[in-house]
This record gives sequence, structure tokens and C-alpha cells, in this order.
Amino acid sequence: MTALPPSAWYPVALAADIDPGTANGTRLFDREIVVWRDSASVPHVWEDRCPHRGMRLSLGFVRGDHLACLYHGWQYDADGQCRLIPAHPQMSPPDTIRVPPLASVERLGMLWAHTGVESSGGPPLEERPVRPVRSIAVDCPPEAALSRLGYFSGPTGDDGGSGDWTVAAPAPSLVVVGSGDHAILIGIQPLSTRQCVLHAVIAGPGGDGLRISHWLEEFRLAVEAEAVQ
Ligand code: FES
Repeated sequence: MTALPPSAWYPVALAADIDPGTANGTRLFDREIVVWRDSASVPHVWEDRCPHRGMRLSLGFVRGDHLACLYHGWQYDADGQCRLIPAHPQMSPPDTIRVPPLASVERLGMLWAHTGVESSGGPPLEERPVRPVRSIAVDCPPEAALSRLGYFSGPTGDDGGSGDWTVAAPAPSLVVVGSGDHAILIGIQPLSTRQCVLHAVIAGPGGDGLRISHWLEEFRLAVEAEAVQ
């Protein structure tokens, strides 16, 4: 099993699951992160830790293009720079009070973040219209999920699935099951070395989301059983 690269683009949410003006906490290789959208729908991914006293920013509130901490209300702008300390509203916060942002981008119906220190442009994947299916947590190493996706037969049934789909991995954390007008794209988010989340979208006009959702549950059962052997 090939280890996932520590410095790369990884999906952190289905784009449709993060509404404008909301924040959600998750993990990437055990790193606590907050995924949020400002009121203009621009996505951001940051360390999930307020520089003041360490409160999780994912518990806070979006105020326009700022994210406000729940504890003392400090507000951070889209670059992570602190812009307001409510207890000292006249004060201009120093540049050192800043939340480290991760490079992030929206692509293929998912929000992606880069785990390295510098990156831009997003994962090298061609954009195409997709529809969200679901995200599903899996209690197995991300590499095990990736490996099994590589030879899984795909869903069968009257949605067009033949049970004999082609599988490709155009990026370390993305598997495409099927091809052409009918494909399921599955992004793998490593929560840790032992757990992951699969984010699934459908590309093309075909595909039954409910059937694919059931297929993902079957896949989870199979890969989790394999992981404990
Ligand atoms: S801990 Fe966030 S503002 Fe105090």
C-alpha cells in the first residue's frame, strides 16, 4: 500500500455541505481545521484554533467576510488576520495575531485544502459539472480505502452501472469509478492514519444518488471488515 503524500491537495468537505456564512470543524492528518464560507460564498480552510486562548474557531460565527471566535469575539478577516477585539474596539490588532490559513479551492464539487506550506491553483484536475452524493466516514486507514477502491467493481443496477466499471486515480486523493458521461468521483480525506472520509459526487447525466449512497455503505462495511483482519 502506497502512503499518501504528506504535502498535497486533499478534499475536506463536499462543497454543497458548507453553506455561505457557516463553519464546520474537521481534521486532516490529525490536524484540526475549520472549513468555512464567508457571506460571498468564498471558501476558507484554517487551523481550528483561535490565537487568543485556543478556542475552536469552528464553534464561532461568520460575520460577512470575517470569522468571529465564540469565546471573546475576536474577528479574523479572510486572510486570517485579526481585525477586531471587541473589548478594545479602538485598537488596531497587531499583525502577529493571525490564524494560519491553508491554501484552499473549490473543485469538482468538493472543497480542497493543501497540507503544505505553499501552494496555489488547486489540484491538477479538470473542472466538470457534478452533483453531490454524500460524505461517509470510514474507520480504516485512508490508504486501505484507496487500495480497495482500485479494484472494487462499482455499483450495479438500472442506473447504468454495469458492475464492471473502469477505475482511475487522477490524483493521490481522488478515484474516478466509471468514465465518460457516467462516473462517480470519490475524494479521500485522511482524518488520521487510521480513519478517513469519502466524499462522493456524480459526473454526467446518469447515476442514481441513492443507489450510489447504498453502494458506499456496502463499500464501508467491506473495507472496515478487511481492516480488522
Ligand atoms: S479565545 Fe478566541 S477570542 Fe478569546
